Amino acid sequence: MIITCPKCARTYKVNPDVLKPFADAGKKNVLATCKSCKLKFPVSLAPLLTLEGEPIDPQRRLTSVARKICITLSKGGVGKTTTSVNLGAGLALAGYKVLLVDTDTQGQSSYSLGKSPGAGLTELLTRELPVSECLVKARNNLWLLSGGKSLAGVKRIIDKKSFGAEFTLSEALSPLDHQFDFILIDTSPGWDQLIVNVLFYSTEVLVPIALEVMPVHGLSEFMKSLGAIQKYRSEIQLKYIVPTFLDLRIKGPKELYKQLRKLYPQQLCTPIRYNESLADAPSFGKTIFEFAPGSTASEDYRSLVRKVSGNESDLL
Ligand SMILES: Nc1ncnc2c1ncn2[C@@H]1O[C@H](COP(=O)(O)OP(=O)(O)O)[C@@H](O)[C@H]1O
Ligand SMILES: [Mg+2]
Repeated sequence: MIITCPKCARTYKVNPDVLKPFADAGKKNVLATCKSCKLKFPVSLAPLLTLEGEPIDPQRRLTSVARKICITLSKGGVGKTTTSVNLGAGLALAGYKVLLVDTDTQGQSSYSLGKSPGAGLTELLTRELPVSECLVKARNNLWLLSGGKSLAGVKRIIDKKSFGAEFTLSEALSPLDHQFDFILIDTSPGWDQLIVNVLFYSTEVLVPIALEVMPVHGLSEFMKSLGAIQKYRSEIQLKYIVPTFLDLRIKGPKELYKQLRKLYPQQLCTPIRYNESLADAPSFGKTIFEFAPGSTASEDYRSLVRKVSGNESDLL
């Protein structure tokens, strides 16, 4: 960040990381003193943390905090990435400012959006680059903090921390709190230190459940793990259960859906039907709204957008 003295025009290069804590504390300006002419002058913090050239709105910073929703379940192949990408893209289309954080070493979210960013979550967590350089604008209103193989090394760094390891992600992402309406976090299958970090950061959990074999078993296992986190962090709640891969030609899924409705009447969302387009879209780097806007899958994800935003008129 370059600062210019308004009196003698001397310029200074300032590391934005030094100023960030002031901006995070809600300050709009800091006072600087010019080394040449000794003038004291205010430096605006508004251009800090710009998202690819879009300056943050100082008013917004003070009023709104992003909703942090993680999309998670220990089981793989249940539609976590598909839901993260298409829910994120749908919310962005509806006009919300969205950040998608990929915490999976497979880095599928970037691939699905047709992006191969040079930097992402790893560089943010290791503090190699400032936040603004780790984000990539994927679509209008949609930013991406990509995952990928390099996250494996980050997991080892987190594991070695002697205390506060579970807050590593929260600390790194905190400067972004006021810049988005939604921060969605896609997770890897399994259970590790990075997922614990995600659960210590998020406030809402969305669980996609493939209406295939034993989904309820996977969910009850996950609920046990979530319960263990909630002992230390009561803010985090299971908000949405999204049945995926619904195939109405088969009897089993209908029974499983009824079972879920009995167990989780509040959280259960309208299912996402099985649709080939959802499997094909990622290889074209397209969201379902771009690849097959008239499909049942697009309709189902639009309905999920309304459920999550709470605005019945979104994307109608
Ligand atoms: N409703 C659906 N209908 C058909 N294929 C789907 C559906 N949801 C996801 N898929 C496909 O299933 C595979 C697994 O989904 P994915 O979102 O990658 O799961 P996870 O992230 O939980 O491992 C992907 O190839 C994806 O494109
Ligand atoms: Mg995935």
